[in-house]
Amino acid sequence: MATTLLTGGTVVSATGRTAADVLLDGESIAAVLAPGSTLLGHDLAASVDTVIDATGKYVIPGGIDAHTHMQLPFGGTSASDTFETGTRAAAWGGTTTIVDFAVQRTGERVQDGLAHWHELAAGNCAIDYGFHQIVGGVDADSLAALPGLIDEGISSFKMFMAYPGVFYADDAQILRAMQVAADTGLLTMMHAENGPVIDVLAEQLIEKGKTSPYFHGVARAWQMEEEATHRAIMLSHLTGAPLYVVHVSAKQAVEQLAWARDNGQNVFGETCPQYLYLSLEDQLGASSEEWGDFEGAKWVCSTPLRSKHEGHQHHMWQALRTNDIQMVSTDHCPFCMKDQKTLGQGDFRAIPNGIGSVEHRMDLMYQGVVTGQITLERWVELTSTTPARMFGMYGKKGVIAPGADADIVVYDPAGHTSIGLGTRPDGSPTGRSHHMNMDHSAWEGYEIDGHVDTVISRGKVVVDDGAYVGAPGDGRFVKRGLSQYLI
Ligand code: URP
Ligand code: ZN
Ligand code: ZN
Ligand code: ZN
Repeated sequence: MATTLLTGGTVVSATGRTAADVLLDGESIAAVLAPGSTLLGHDLAASVDTVIDATGKYVIPGGIDAHTHMQLPFGGTSASDTFETGTRAAAWGGTTTIVDFAVQRTGERVQDGLAHWHELAAGNCAIDYGFHQIVGGVDADSLAALPGLIDEGISSFKMFMAYPGVFYADDAQILRAMQVAADTGLLTMMHAENGPVIDVLAEQLIEKGKTSPYFHGVARAWQMEEEATHRAIMLSHLTGAPLYVVHVSAKQAVEQLAWARDNGQNVFGETCPQYLYLSLEDQLGASSEEWGDFEGAKWVCSTPLRSKHEGHQHHMWQALRTNDIQMVSTDHCPFCMKDQKTLGQGDFRAIPNGIGSVEHRMDLMYQGVVTGQITLERWVELTSTTPARMFGMYGKKGVIAPGADADIVVYDPAGHTSIGLGTRPDGSPTGRSHHMNMDHSAWEGYEIDGHVDTVISRGKVVVDDGAYVGAPGDGRFVKRGLSQYLI
């Protein structure tokens, strides 16, 4: 078993920071030691196989992105990152575990949808991966299959109050599924937007000739996120099923979550970097020489980017500080402009929904530390420790401690990262500066104070000074337990 010593760094956890050396033995963390320690008389640096000098850098638990959609069939096409390309990009960005969504649709057996997802991922991933189960068709058969997920290491499932005709579940279906969740300990994840109302608003906009991506954001009104969030909270209260609301973007939805939590409910929320930085006006409403007002299609996702004039972003950062929102995932669901987003030219309803960010989450959230919005410890908590606890992986993941998996990122606060595709002054491409399988970047031009230097996945260096040195199949399926975050 290879041994590695990380020396000279500042080890950061959700609860503090300390100068320490970290000893890795094979796939696990063996010890966290005072700087320069010897162990039983051995000079560690001379006895290990590899020494990584982390002087001046942060040593943090590998990022956990608990919301990704690799190769999701959606909107008449499939998300453009495979498990191979998407997990490699994640590794580049300091994420060492993803939790992706296996899909079951109406008429399909949950077991078959899950088996298919295993086939897609097995042997292809650069980092460890787990699954949530999407239940896209709630019926007697899928309800009966839910308890069996726990033995499969899948302790959470997602339903949709949006997307009628695709994944949509009505209140009666949600009630029945939550009853099963309450009985079994499964965590219910909810896409909380009132889909039927949104579909009417969208149709009315199209009839008026308002077809550009901007109107995707207009149709998906915040009132319908607040309303659905409240409805999900009440169904959760009624059934006793813990609730986790995904991709929260409206400040009014956050207020609903805060109210439920103040009421003592097991209700949690995640937001995504796009809701902290991007807006209806600047992105969905963007236009370019290349695409005209279709430029905004790059940022069509649901829930949508919100107006910069309504205080959503400010409120969301605050919620990250006050723990009204507990964690940050990406909802990574990339589509290229060419042949994918363009399906919706002339009708925003046909634009495949999703943004690609899996590579940038750690960097983008670190900017919150740089600007003073969150502490260094909160950065680790939001991006790694809470995802591990929320989704039943803590102890192995989300922490630097003896016995944990050796998933570690060496992050250089003095480094710099330029995000995007990059162009020279003459307009020619400089070569890609992201590694996701996309022909554009939703984060084009973002300049990051900070740099992911080294990424270690279960003891193996997979990113070394910015170069990927891992291989497909390094990543293994993570069997998750029940949530460790419940009150
Ligand atoms: O726009 C999004 N979020 N696409 C992925 C599917 C979902 O609702 O999470
Ligand atoms: Zn969703
Ligand atoms: Zn999603
Ligand atoms: Zn560097």
